[in-house]
Amino acid sequence: MTDVIFGFLSSIGFTHPLHPAFTHIPMGMVIGAVVFRLASFLPRMKMLAKTGYHCVILALLGIAPTIVTGYLDWQHRFGGGWEFLIVLKMVLAGVLTVLLLLVTIKDDPDNRRVDRLTGWYVLMALVAIGLGYSGGELQYG
Ligand code: HEM
Repeated sequence: MTDVIFGFLSSIGFTHPLHPAFTHIPMGMVIGAVVFRLASFLPRMKMLAKTGYHCVILALLGIAPTIVTGYLDWQHRFGGGWEFLIVLKMVLAGVLTVLLLLVTIKDDPDNRRVDRLTGWYVLMALVAIGLGYSGGELQYG
């Protein structure tokens, strides 16, 4: 299946890895979510908590295509070889998905506080940074 997908893409002139294009959605939205959440504690900036929450929703919607294209690139460009960075990314991708789901279900941005939920926003950013760094190591060595 992977060869069929990449064979078709290269037949129309697309020879780049697929995953990097999709990673921008969860990466950008998670960083945006934590910045808006923290900024919402500034005077008269409470409304930014809802902006941060909306970023969480879009990040969650972007997770599935990001994971699928990561898997496809792993199979196509790395021969599906098991290595520490790939296992790390799979674990971090699972952790990020669970955190995004928890925040989506449990957060009430209209009543945001410096509590466990705000802690989960910061933790999501750290997990995303781990995914980006391990991905950069795979790509740029
Ligand atoms: C939410 C989950 C994930 C995020 C946010 C993410 C993010 C990233 C980022 C930022 C890069 C560097 C891309 C670049 O600029 O070159 C990358 C590369 C990479 N990631 Fe992920 N990643 C995720 C999940 C996965 C999973 C589950 C796999 C494999 C099973 C994977 C496999 C790869 C591979 C092979 C690369 C090297 C570049 C490529 O061939 O596409 N990623 N990832």
